[in-house]
Amino acid sequence: MSKPEIAGKQPLIEVVDPGRYYWCACGKSQRQPYCDGSHIGTGITPVEVEFEETKEVYFCMCKHSKDKPFCDGTHNKM
Ligand code: FES
Repeated sequence: MSKPEIAGKQPLIEVVDPGRYYWCACGKSQRQPYCDGSHIGTGITPVEVEFEETKEVYFCMCKHSKDKPFCDGTHNKM
């Protein structure tokens, strides 16, 4: 499995509607923070996350969070 690319060094703040989402774990998606299929061949797969209510979410963009798909501040150490 290859290492994820750093898609950004700040979290991406999104207001999500209830539903299921696939967070890009490889860093290659052109539709950040969501998977667009660009991970194919990397050995990395997206992280599925489901929200039951509309809420503001801080999505990890450095792709190295220990709390994927959420930002845990790891980007501050890069
Ligand atoms: S495009 Fe990155 S995990 Fe699918």
